[in-house]
Amino acid sequence: MAPIDPHSFTDSTHPLATHISLTLYVDFSTSTIHGSALISLPNPHSGALSLDTRSLTIHSIRDPISLATIPYSLSPPDPIKGCHVTVSLSNHSSFLVLYSTSPSSSALQWLLPWQTFNKKYPFVYTQCQAIHARSVFPCQDTPAARVRYSCRINIPRQLSAVMSARHVERRPPLSQEAAALVCDSSLWCSEERVVEEFEMEQPIPPYLFAFAVGELGFREVGPRTRVYAEAVPGLLDDAAREFAGTEDMIRQGERLFGPYEWERFDLLVLPPSFPYGGMENPRMVFLTPTVIKGDASGAQVVAHELAHSWTGNLITNKTNDHFWLNEGFTTYAERRIVEAVQGEDRATLNIGIGWKGLNEEMERFKDKMEFTKLKTNQEGVDPDDVYSQVPYEKGFQFLWRIERQIGRPLFDEFLKKYIATFKFQSIDTQTFLDFLKANIPGIEKDIDLELWTEGTGIPPDAYEPVSNIYTKIVSLANEFKLGRMPREDEVADWQGQEWELYLENLPKSVETSQVLALDERYRLSESKDYEVKVAFLQMAISSKCRDKYGEVEKTLKEVGRMKYLRPLYTALVQGTGKEEEKILAERVFAEACDFYHPIAKGVVASIFAKHL
Ligand code: BES
Ligand code: ZN
Repeated sequence: MAPIDPHSFTDSTHPLATHISLTLYVDFSTSTIHGSALISLPNPHSGALSLDTRSLTIHSIRDPISLATIPYSLSPPDPIKGCHVTVSLSNHSSFLVLYSTSPSSSALQWLLPWQTFNKKYPFVYTQCQAIHARSVFPCQDTPAARVRYSCRINIPRQLSAVMSARHVERRPPLSQEAAALVCDSSLWCSEERVVEEFEMEQPIPPYLFAFAVGELGFREVGPRTRVYAEAVPGLLDDAAREFAGTEDMIRQGERLFGPYEWERFDLLVLPPSFPYGGMENPRMVFLTPTVIKGDASGAQVVAHELAHSWTGNLITNKTNDHFWLNEGFTTYAERRIVEAVQGEDRATLNIGIGWKGLNEEMERFKDKMEFTKLKTNQEGVDPDDVYSQVPYEKGFQFLWRIERQIGRPLFDEFLKKYIATFKFQSIDTQTFLDFLKANIPGIEKDIDLELWTEGTGIPPDAYEPVSNIYTKIVSLANEFKLGRMPREDEVADWQGQEWELYLENLPKSVETSQVLALDERYRLSESKDYEVKVAFLQMAISSKCRDKYGEVEKTLKEVGRMKYLRPLYTALVQGTGKEEEKILAERVFAEACDFYHPIAKGVVASIFAKHL
């Protein structure tokens, strides 16, 4: 037994699956999926084969031709990794696993009709990163593995399905398909049901598997881009407007990083409980509706998820220990795209917000310095619990440092070569460093590569950005500490990100009267921009400004994006003298948690476990 990933039971001595063919019956009435997974290996294999599952009931494992059962064993669940399934194969090159998910499967969020925009039909979607694919289908759930897949998904006829894969067809169910033994053929073939078929020809790590089922509509926004969302005309039109510039960004990405390898770049706007800003599912990025603000700033999140098409999806971190290879590179690439389409000032502002965020993470992890490293050791650690800005912003800073050292033209050339060399592969930090040293001879003499990748904290040659607007905002924030609020003429052309940077540079807690005065003048607690609203509310909580707690409660009940839940709940429960706030936090969570995605629920629960 030789594990290759601290978060998976995948064994280095076993072959890695090359293809998975899924047949899924989506049962909204019980919030379960009845499924079969036909798992193919590169060669016939005899002996043990390890798979990951979580919250799955395995009914049987069979030979796909004879349907004879194949013996297997199932370990008790590990709290982080889930269950270890050991299948005993005898010269099998493929095998069929029949299983059902459970309502608590961590990747799946089931929404009742009243929880959707239209309130008419239910909705279900997946979020598989970091280690949740195993709760939808049994697999070798490590990014070191890459698989192709096909999927037929049986859903109510009024709904439609989208996937991070090529759509093949929508058609009536066929009775012979029920022979895959997923469910009774009368259910599979009911008049009320339809089958959507998908095919993913490019090999992907399992965390990039994704689907959504609901009453969906779409708008065309570019030659390879549609934006999908619940079929609400106003929502679709707003989304189409917000993302009109997508094709421009794809072209910039191709210019900077090489060909776009995934054919389509569609976008799916999810219900407000989606736990992330965006998720880079290939061919179909998933987005929170909070990015639709009407000021084109949602483009930044799209730029980020688009950038993953090269860094993350083409070149993938081998395990979560090397997560910075995904997110640090993507943050760098995102800012290059933003710079190209929105100008240098905008990009610098983003770098500044990131710089502040990175410095704050040092405070958060002061007792767990391991997670201030780029290359981490996540043995025994739940990746959702240590999710932070460090891989994004320290990773960005490292690459920016290399760019400064060798100059942009050379760095651009290097990046293109890096992507072309490792595309469709999963790599670790050492592989990157070896490639860097081989292509930029002597780089290790100018930059302390070991300090950057293995050291804790922020290296001394990291760099706070400079630009007029950035410097102006930071100095205005410093003046607030001395009691001066910015004048209206000073903030007249501020958008969300300017306010965000301003708020992040204010002291953590100030006089209640100052919080109230700032809000009186600029109405930040009512901002439609959640970045601004949450930054303000966080300060309001730390300053014990009770007048704003109603707004805090409302916010926690209307969005499930963890970027907002995490700081608000943490501000409520962290520290001493917070009795009232702790009671508020527990009550709000009890009332709102049915609305949160299971991953978000888990993260809030672990914040409580730490502080309550
Ligand atoms: N891949 C991440 C989201 C993610 C990370 C999901 C780890 C699960 C585990 C995605 O690309 C991301 O970074 N999203 C950001 C967008 C932002 C940086 C523009 C987010 O959700 O805030
Ligand atoms: Zn990302």
